[in-house]
Amino acid sequence: MLKIVCQKAFEKRELFELMVLPYWEGPGEAADLSMWKEIAVQPLASGDFNGKAGDTLLLYSQGRLLFLGLGKKDAVNGESLRRAYSAAVRLAQTKKVKTIHLVVPKIPKMADEDVLRGISEGILLTNYSFSQLKYDSLKENPVCLLEKAYFIGLEMKHEALIQKLTQIAAGVYLTRELVNGNADDVTPKMLAETALSLEKRTPGLKATILDKKQIEKEKMGLLLAVNRGSSMDPYLINLSYQGNPKSKEHIVLVGKGITYDTGGLALKPADGMATMKCDMAGAATVLAVVHTAAALQLKVNVTAVAPVTENAIDANSYKNGDVYRSMSGKTIEVNNTDAEGRLVLADAMTYAIKHWQPTKMIDVATLTGGIIIALGEEIAGVFANDDQLAKDLAISSEATGENVWRMPLHADYKEMLKSETADLLNSAGKSASSMTAALFLQEFVGSVHWAHIDFAGSSYLSKPKYYNTSKATGFGVRLLIDFLERHAT
Ligand code: BES
Ligand code: MN
Ligand code: ZN
Repeated sequence: MLKIVCQKAFEKRELFELMVLPYWEGPGEAADLSMWKEIAVQPLASGDFNGKAGDTLLLYSQGRLLFLGLGKKDAVNGESLRRAYSAAVRLAQTKKVKTIHLVVPKIPKMADEDVLRGISEGILLTNYSFSQLKYDSLKENPVCLLEKAYFIGLEMKHEALIQKLTQIAAGVYLTRELVNGNADDVTPKMLAETALSLEKRTPGLKATILDKKQIEKEKMGLLLAVNRGSSMDPYLINLSYQGNPKSKEHIVLVGKGITYDTGGLALKPADGMATMKCDMAGAATVLAVVHTAAALQLKVNVTAVAPVTENAIDANSYKNGDVYRSMSGKTIEVNNTDAEGRLVLADAMTYAIKHWQPTKMIDVATLTGGIIIALGEEIAGVFANDDQLAKDLAISSEATGENVWRMPLHADYKEMLKSETADLLNSAGKSASSMTAALFLQEFVGSVHWAHIDFAGSSYLSKPKYYNTSKATGFGVRLLIDFLERHAT
């Protein structure tokens, strides 16, 4: 993990590998060139570089000097800083430097903490590479991650904030590792073991793993149905952190954990299946969030519940057209075995309500391709039966740059889920498919304050962008930690 060190001032004699100097867009708009003004005059006058957000200009003088464009001064915000500093890190990596120095820009319209947060997150989130599955190409050209970043011009009192941001980044990395990992490696059992190892690593965490027998005892017929095509047993993972025992508030996070989604007998075509190791991103996210909450000792009670199984294909697979009974007692006519996420979530939420008494419940899932059609790859959909919860998530979205947009839960569309033989159909076809999926889930939450985050797009990108340097983004970790922080008392 990269270490961020704050330094009040910089002596010209000091050595550096790469010095990042901020530059605003516009003529002569250096943010702070400090002692390097003279060296900069000619290259800047050439017009080759004018401070556009994310633009870089590399000069050499006693070390590498990197002019970093921050864009227009009045448009700067946390997200623009994250993006700009991510460009600096990417360039640093091509030069194989291990240490960067950077002069922190003075931005009157932003609080110091927000400036520090934007820059730190831009650097930490970018300083990640998923390389465990590479062999040949890495021998010749290993990815060179930064080890240290010196922030010049900041007071020491920001140590605690830096530590916090570093811990949150570790949560993002954990999620990315699990989501990027081979489906053959990141199995239901491996996820259960991950929860147990997190429990060992961090005080205050309690992991409870239900195995197949216990899942049968709980009559979680939908989780068991989805599991039937797999050679691997399912688990129900619970990871709990009670950081505020005096409070009755209990936030339960439920994460979809399909370690591989073939579609089952409603088999996906190869193209659609090829990314389906990402289908446990919800589970990875909620485990990382609860672990991070414990590591930060947030004063909240929060529990992750993750139903984990493959949706594989086999002679024993559950069947299109058959009816299965959920833990809640409701029966489901499965008209599409590829709509498996809502099935495992339905049982997990029934279990969560019965055993954990949530005052708020948020489920996180790579639930539908429909949400990508609706919102694209960079915005997650939020469906909620509670306006305050939706508003709170929007506030955390704004604060973290993890984009969410509230979608309606149009009750009339429930009709599309009507079955002639059972209480509900599991799939209602293409029209408003992310919404009918959410309406299906809503049938299992009763009166609990609930929000559903469909991040099929934003959890796993088709190609890396800005500070998301691998397909798996770790989206949701920063959003939910911010949400929990605002609920801490
Ligand atoms: N895991 C998929 C959704 C998905 C699609 C995630 C693309 C990430 C990227 C989910 O289980 C699924 O197959 N959903 C179907 C539902 C349909 C059969 C009603 C879908 O969205 O097509
Ligand atoms: Mn599916
Ligand atoms: Zn799925």
